[in-house]
Amino acid sequence: MSSTLDLIRKRISANKFDRNRPLSQAEIRELVEFATQAPSSFNIQHARFVAVTRAADKERLKAVAYGQQKVADAAVTFVVLGDLRGHEKLPGILARSVQAGILDAKTADSWVGMANGMYANAELARDEAIRSASLAAMTLMVAAEAKGLVSGPMIGFDPEGVKRELGISDRYVPVMLLPVGHPAPGNWPRKPRLPVDEVLAFDRGREF
Ligand SMILES: Cc1cc2nc3c(=O)[nH]c(=O)nc-3n(C[C@H](O)[C@H](O)[C@H](O)COP(=O)(O)O)c2cc1C
Repeated sequence: MSSTLDLIRKRISANKFDRNRPLSQAEIRELVEFATQAPSSFNIQHARFVAVTRAADKERLKAVAYGQQKVADAAVTFVVLGDLRGHEKLPGILARSVQAGILDAKTADSWVGMANGMYANAELARDEAIRSASLAAMTLMVAAEAKGLVSGPMIGFDPEGVKRELGISDRYVPVMLLPVGHPAPGNWPRKPRLPVDEVLAFDRGREF
């Protein structure tokens, strides 16, 4: 079994997926269950997932994703959404932590007040939805890798078209498409990265 560090180094964005190896609903649910373990501000958990598995639906999605074939070839293409009004669910979410004895009720109330204040700013609410859903998507990608699957995060799609085709309301911002499945031959090898010295500064910012 590969270690997490090996998986991080091994992961690539796949273009080629095996069209003949579907994933069961149980396997898809497991991937999403791992994704829900990702952190989010106040534990709001803004990420939502629409798992597109039917051939006809994947073709419709491909049409609003600039014809990118992997959307149709992957066993499942997730539409990863961010809830723009995620903070409205915070009282119920924090009540679970209070119930579990992790948080006291007073702290929970103060977090709700803080979150309501912060996310009255629609721009910040959107930033947070995208941030949290992105972390959940990355967590899903690592889980997929650990299961011997590959993934391919995508921003190349028309968000309004995706919402229209799949009946997604304006409450949600489409954060990325994420095809996941078994690999087919022909994927790129891992691409070189910037050296650490070009991306890291200690203690103060600098012009990188
Ligand atoms: C937010 C995001 C959006 C991306 N959108 C696309 C896309 O629409 N189509 C595509 O082929 N690759 C897309 N990629 C994949 C990147 O090209 C890829 O991650 C990058 O080249 C590094 O390669 P690697 O992931 O294999 O290491 C996207 C990646 C990210 C993180």
